[in-house]
Amino acid sequence: MINDVESVLLSEEKLATRIAEIGAEITNDYAGKEILMIGVLRGAVIFMADLARSIKVPVAIDFMAVSSYGAGTTSSGVVRILKDLDENVEGKHLLVVEDIIDSGLTLNYLLDNLKSRKPASIKLCTLLNKPERRKVDVKIDYNGFNVPDYFVIGYGLDYAEKYRNLPFIGILKPEIYKD
Ligand code: IMP
Ligand code: MG
Repeated sequence: MINDVESVLLSEEKLATRIAEIGAEITNDYAGKEILMIGVLRGAVIFMADLARSIKVPVAIDFMAVSSYGAGTTSSGVVRILKDLDENVEGKHLLVVEDIIDSGLTLNYLLDNLKSRKPASIKLCTLLNKPERRKVDVKIDYNGFNVPDYFVIGYGLDYAEKYRNLPFIGILKPEIYKD
């Protein structure tokens, strides 16, 4: 697994430091409120687990799964809900947690869908952002890091369901996904 990594882009320490900063910012912004975190399965799970523990106001969690890449590395533009929320979100303060925003197609769809369910508020937190590849505009409220246009893996992010358990964000060797 480690031999497939070209280089480490964000170390465990860098991730932890930045997540503590975002957690403090969110704690401050939501003082006196409760948050319903909505994790986008499956890539956001590891980030969400650490982020939730860095926030000091009450946090409930729920998950959604939407279709994205299959085994490829570029977005199809087709978004489909594979798993919906278990909770009713009406009147709640939603914080959508995503691993990476690339074309923006997934989140654009998801935010519109969630807004139609009448939450009290909705904000977006992403660990990574690849601005170069944006196709539709997405408003990011909390951004961990901007990253260059490489295919990255680890800390929840996968290629064909592999590498999610690496504790850092790494750049995948192009020969792994180019045929
Ligand atoms: P978007 O709809 O193009 O913004 O796609 C976002 C989704 O694509 C993310 O939630 C990831 O699952 C996946 N994705 C995009 N870029 C990468 C990457 O560099 N590594 C791993 N997954 C990625
Ligand atoms: Mg994802």
